[in-house]
Amino acid sequence: MHGTRGNSHLKEDIRDYWSRRSETFDLAFGHRIPEGPEFEAWAAAIRENLGPEPRRVLELACGTGEVTRLLLSLGHEVTALDFSEAMLKVARKKHAGAKGVRFLLADAENPMEPDESYDAIVCRHLVWTLTTPVEAFSEWHRMLRPGGILLFFDGDWAAPTRLGRLAGRAIALLDKVIGTDPHYDGAMSARHADIMGRLPFGDGLTVQRVQPLLAAVGFRDIKIGSHGPIARAQRRKADLRNRLRTLLYRRFILCCRK
Ligand SMILES: C[S@@+](CC[C@H](N)C(=O)[O-])C[C@H]1O[C@@H](n2cnc3c(N)ncnc32)[C@H](O)[C@@H]1O
Repeated sequence: MHGTRGNSHLKEDIRDYWSRRSETFDLAFGHRIPEGPEFEAWAAAIRENLGPEPRRVLELACGTGEVTRLLLSLGHEVTALDFSEAMLKVARKKHAGAKGVRFLLADAENPMEPDESYDAIVCRHLVWTLTTPVEAFSEWHRMLRPGGILLFFDGDWAAPTRLGRLAGRAIALLDKVIGTDPHYDGAMSARHADIMGRLPFGDGLTVQRVQPLLAAVGFRDIKIGSHGPIARAQRRKADLRNRLRTLLYRRFILCCRK
């Protein structure tokens, strides 16, 4: 059941999962965005899709505020929300004293912000975990001004690519030799799998699945961008195990308009 009443435990479990990871989230590869080529690659993807003008941006599921940092560096005015107080605490601390940012404790599926109040909505690694995606997309559409942009970064975390399966085996071998990385899901992976199994996109978030849902609520000009330049930038500074991690899943960048 995916109704708001029926999924209340699921949402609690999702919130609890991320709250427990808040202190170490930035230590796991792929979460923190280091200055240098990786920061530049993420910034380029945002600039390309949002344009050079400063925008009123609603950032959904800001977590520890890494994408927030990118958006602020590009001169946007950011409302960054998350439903985990623990995650927001890290983000607030990271951006203490920064201008142009407001943090909000709210549900990304139903933020209750006014109609047409944003030029853009941006999120990284949220869509796969939506419990009611169509209702959420419809809500996001409502909050955008006409012509406003929805931009998200996500991937299919259920099915590794063929190369990813090979990379996965090599990572497992490295884990045995040098020990597991305690921050890369580690002991919580059983909980992660349990949550995945109960999500609408738990069996895979793909472009093919998400496009018609966005179109059905009124989004148009849907463009798919490649995550390749970001992954290449990540590989430039990563160790072998993390370089292999960039090959595991099919990631994509989706941008569309109201
Ligand atoms: C994988 S983390 C991504 C954090 C951040 N977007 C990033 O890329 O660094 C997922 C985040 O989504 C948040 N989240 C998940 N579902 C949410 C919801 N319905 N409303 C608000 N936040 C949500 C979690 O609390 C967590 O901070």
